[in-house]
Amino acid sequence: MTEPQSDLPDIYYPDETTLKNARIRDWQQVEEEAAADPVAYWEKRARELTWSKPWTRTLDDDDAPFFKWFVGGKTNIVTNAIDRHLDGPHKNKLALLWQSEDGKETRTFSYFSLNRAVTKMANVLKALGVRKGDRVTIYLPRIPEVFFAMLACAKLGAVHSVIFAGFSADALTARIDDSESKVVITADGSWINGSVFPLKDIVDQAVRFSPTVENVLVIKRTGSEVTMDPLRDHWYHDLTALPIARGACETVQVDAEHPLFILYTSGSTGKPKAVLHTHGGYMVGTYATLRDTFDLNDGDRYWCTADAGWITGHSYVVYGPLLNGATSFMYEGGPSYPHPDRWWSLIEHYGITTFYTAPTAIRSLMRFGDAWVNRHDLSSLRLLGTVGEPINPEAWRWFYEIVGQGRCPIMDTWWQTETGMFQIAGVPAMPQKPGSAGRPIFGQVAEIVDEKGDPVPDGTEGFLTLLNPWPAMMRTLYRDDQRYLDTYWNVYAGRYATGDSARRDEDGYYWVIGRTDDIIKVSGHRLGTAEVESAITSHSAVAEAAAIGLPHEIKGNAIHVYAVLNPGHQGSREMTEELRAHVATHLSPIAKPDEIIYVESLPKTRSGKIMRRVLRARALGQDEGDLSTLDG
Ligand code: WTA
Repeated sequence: MTEPQSDLPDIYYPDETTLKNARIRDWQQVEEEAAADPVAYWEKRARELTWSKPWTRTLDDDDAPFFKWFVGGKTNIVTNAIDRHLDGPHKNKLALLWQSEDGKETRTFSYFSLNRAVTKMANVLKALGVRKGDRVTIYLPRIPEVFFAMLACAKLGAVHSVIFAGFSADALTARIDDSESKVVITADGSWINGSVFPLKDIVDQAVRFSPTVENVLVIKRTGSEVTMDPLRDHWYHDLTALPIARGACETVQVDAEHPLFILYTSGSTGKPKAVLHTHGGYMVGTYATLRDTFDLNDGDRYWCTADAGWITGHSYVVYGPLLNGATSFMYEGGPSYPHPDRWWSLIEHYGITTFYTAPTAIRSLMRFGDAWVNRHDLSSLRLLGTVGEPINPEAWRWFYEIVGQGRCPIMDTWWQTETGMFQIAGVPAMPQKPGSAGRPIFGQVAEIVDEKGDPVPDGTEGFLTLLNPWPAMMRTLYRDDQRYLDTYWNVYAGRYATGDSARRDEDGYYWVIGRTDDIIKVSGHRLGTAEVESAITSHSAVAEAAAIGLPHEIKGNAIHVYAVLNPGHQGSREMTEELRAHVATHLSPIAKPDEIIYVESLPKTRSGKIMRRVLRARALGQDEGDLSTLDG
């Protein structure tokens, strides 16, 4: 039933209402001004926020690429995300609306009551000995407490490390140990499609031998039976009933460059990368980009469907909206529980105006047909957004026509855990092209280069690089400066290497194609081939394995694993199920391979490196390329 794509427009212009309401109408002019002096542009944006001590140097590039922003300045992201709203007109404004997966519970927080909740959590953490600079691991589902936990850490100047609550005990242990967390904040369980996922049990396994974790704070969510270690574990509601939780708690003023959080993300080797972000620059960057791209205003009810365990949840569920004094909505469950119109019914019920999600979710909901959408009144929507992977034009048009009813511009936002904030994105007044993320944000220059780092002509595919430093850039990989340099800055001199391939068209729009390294985006989630391989080879039947990503209609990419079994084991359907389950429990259910192919050997270079590119080419029936280094 799909119409031939060629008859459809390949550029969509904002309608009159969008243009009339756009905060930035003359985007070309803003783009030009920011290009002429990017540092001045960010300085101007930073002045819109509150600082207890002004900065003396906006960008310090003396030790590049260890850039510093707003040097000498003091603030706290919480000063701007919460405190400054308490003295102003936003005190009684809704900051957060939340609905439970079963739909029976709704919780709402004004900025005033959010502050109360965050202060309480900060007081509790302080009583548990958490101080400025200490690391705290947060392993929570999509419940309001994930906001409180992150903000409470930030308020104290402690460093949070949020782990997606779908990671297994092994993955959790590695991340807790690496960050040397003192405290873990979790829940007795989380709801997933009507069943309980045992978060606390996983934490128990993960911290059993932890040399650093002194306390585990447990939020009661599902009411499931859990084991509580009397010395280590505390019910959150027990502690909040004590006097220690009461009273005000100072928002510790920190240097702009003081660490705010560590977020582990997949890299090309097995060890996840600990991306480090700081208070000042991250605050300015997430505030400004969300404001410009989503054009947030006081009439909005904003919903980003991401989980707080990923960067999108950090920047554009928790911090960005609060920094803008916006009203956010959070929903505990998944898109099609109990029916494929759950999201649409929530948009209708809460009057969501701006809706930000991932292409994979759009593609999966599109499959259920238009009727599920059409039975709801989605007239409140004014703007849509996507993130995480390229969006295919067919899904873009469905999102635009059916969900947005041809009225809402779509902001396709390209960025990464490392960039902290959007790097390529539009603003509502900018025409959009389905499948393109648009243009570099104000103040950024993106260039497509060849293997040597030389820019390629427009229309040619190459490696996407960024030229200008930006406030919310990661500062380093936690305790691994060398890996920071090698992965991002030493690939092409003077440029930030994104790891993505892309091309730019003649209008200056960027078309991101995908990763060029050993990272696979599966349903928008970022996974490393090495992580999947090490999970699967930890099974006693497996001698070695290679994981690759192959195109998948809904998920964007699917994981295919080539496995060599140890003598005495046979590849069978049972074995495949066992190995899939093994990956789920040793890494995460999101990393379960779609296919496991049993082979006698893997193609390797003479030095023993697995040639995944050869496996990929073979699977896709493509030219295998240069095989001169292939062994045998
Ligand atoms: C991919 C997610 C195309 C890209 C915020 C990038 C995208 C990786 C887009 C980072 C987009 C993200 N269009 N591809 N709009 N957004 N990507 O760290 O490959 O989970 O390098 O951050 O996602 O994934 P991460």
